[in-house]
Amino acid sequence: MDIADLRKRYTRNGLDEKDLPLNPIELFRMWIDEALDAEVPEPNAMALATVTEAGAPNVRMVLLKGIDELSARFFTNYQSRKGRELESTPSAACTIWWAELERQIRFSGRVKKLSVAESEEYFRSRPRESRIGAWASEQSRPVANRTELEERFIEVEQMFEGKEIPKPQHWGGYKIIFETIEFWQGRPGRLHDRIFYQLSSGKWNRQRLAP
Ligand SMILES: Cc1cc2nc3c(=O)[nH]c(=O)nc-3n(C[C@H](O)[C@H](O)[C@H](O)COP(=O)(O)O)c2cc1C
Repeated sequence: MDIADLRKRYTRNGLDEKDLPLNPIELFRMWIDEALDAEVPEPNAMALATVTEAGAPNVRMVLLKGIDELSARFFTNYQSRKGRELESTPSAACTIWWAELERQIRFSGRVKKLSVAESEEYFRSRPRESRIGAWASEQSRPVANRTELEERFIEVEQMFEGKEIPKPQHWGGYKIIFETIEFWQGRPGRLHDRIFYQLSSGKWNRQRLAP
């Protein structure tokens, strides 16, 4: 089978303006609930695109950890490649794809760090193993081999044995402050539905886009 011959006909659903809220956050929340109900694998996995210092795009997966009326949040190492890129260009674009629902959400906006208190609150909720990992891994730095990483993990484990693991300074969350949000629903004949929302002077404008 050649991947060029793969063709899927999307028939599950449609987007009709008369059923859609004027506020895209409402729709975003509905779609997240539907993805959870449909038991989509890793429903909060999203591709996060940033801009390098040379102006080139760079993309990787992260986990969406919540949305509110203004922003979407994720957590990472501030000294990672993405952290350095967000330092020089604090803007990002994200894409979520739920194959089972034939749905894509894209959004973009300016990026800000969450407060230390917000990052600490989330850090405390993580499994101990992940908290150790945040100390042990200098994310995006070259490592000599896997053994080096595993030894560092054990070292950190011993350092914090019987103690609470505090959030490292270099670890925390970012919020992407929504500027655009687009909902895509696959339809037959490649006539997919695309509803694009853009924030302008504090008000959401809505447009249908050609697929
Ligand atoms: C499904 C999935 C979810 C991920 N979630 C995160 C995340 O929430 N935070 C994170 O720092 N890295 C996450 N990663 C790892 C990143 O994709 C990436 O490898 C890492 O953050 C380093 O990226 P950078 O070098 O561009 O900073 C995830 C990877 C996958 C495949």
